[in-house]
Amino acid sequence: MTPARIVTSDAAGIELAINALQRGAAIGMPTETVYGLAADASNPNAVASIYAIKGRPNFNPLIAHVASIAMARSEGVMDKRAEALAAAFWPGPLTLVLPVAANGRTCELARAGLNTIAVRVPSHPVAQALLTRMQGPLAAPSANPSGKLSPTRATEVAAELGDAVELVLDGGPCAAGIESSIVAILPDAAPVLLRPGAVARDQIESITGPLAKPSGTGITAPGQLQSHYAPRARLRLNAEHAEPDELLLGFGPQAPIGAANLSVSGDLTEAAANLYQRLRQLDASGARKIAVMRVPCEGLGEAINDRLQRAAAPR
Ligand code: TXA
Ligand code: MG
Repeated sequence: MTPARIVTSDAAGIELAINALQRGAAIGMPTETVYGLAADASNPNAVASIYAIKGRPNFNPLIAHVASIAMARSEGVMDKRAEALAAAFWPGPLTLVLPVAANGRTCELARAGLNTIAVRVPSHPVAQALLTRMQGPLAAPSANPSGKLSPTRATEVAAELGDAVELVLDGGPCAAGIESSIVAILPDAAPVLLRPGAVARDQIESITGPLAKPSGTGITAPGQLQSHYAPRARLRLNAEHAEPDELLLGFGPQAPIGAANLSVSGDLTEAAANLYQRLRQLDASGARKIAVMRVPCEGLGEAINDRLQRAAAPR
């Protein structure tokens, strides 16, 4: 596969990207969580190309990325609870699932025909510059082929999606390294945590009170597809040490020196930022089996364990 062109994200690079997006092309866009595969959310042909490039089932809806809270309000209906979450976390790694606004510009295909919409205001300066210049929503799933690890570097997007994307804007390594947290704020219902992510549950609950679990009815959330975020190697979780045919992915100071480690100091923010990188590195080293040490389930550990469990699921 010919890798996509990587473009420096200066003013000229942003203009190249805007030009591509306005023609309906898809591009790689950096965000603070992971890289996105972005296209004009108001253009059904452009959105269709996202599903095709990712090999993603088109019943799985996309997130509409916008520049500001004001623009989010024109895509989704925000009640007081949504406004409070937006004030606390936007711009940043939180996605809200809201009732669709009457005159929203995101096309039906991007929402997979639902009457709800996922909206997020990313904080990455390159995403902000692009969205401000675009003056409209960009639909963007993570820029990985469906079922594979999400990319946190421009080079990964360029290599894995190839010239199916017109260009990849280089915004450096993603700071959070794990996808946004997704919370549904819908009428006559408690807030629901649809996907744990880069904003820890207790931070969200400090605004909303207790979050409900997904009901199982309604929409299939990202990782409800059981095997998602998967490396090539098999994973064994909560391991104490590696067996002879395994490579170890450690966590914390108790891991053997020299082993791959999510965070030597046991810091969960650092572990989230390193998660996909370490799995990719172990994959690239030819590992067939990876034994992953226990990561505590508090704070960002909830999202890390969610991704590890999906990566370890049978496929
Ligand atoms: O951090 C992120 O959220 C990244 C960056 C690129 O912004 N994006 C991302 O998108 O992770 P994606 O498509 O890989 O995951 C978003 C998930 C989808 O899988 C979908 O199931 C869920 O959001 N979703 C979208 N619209 C929804 C809706 N109306 N109701 C429930 N879930 C929805
Ligand atoms: Mg994804």
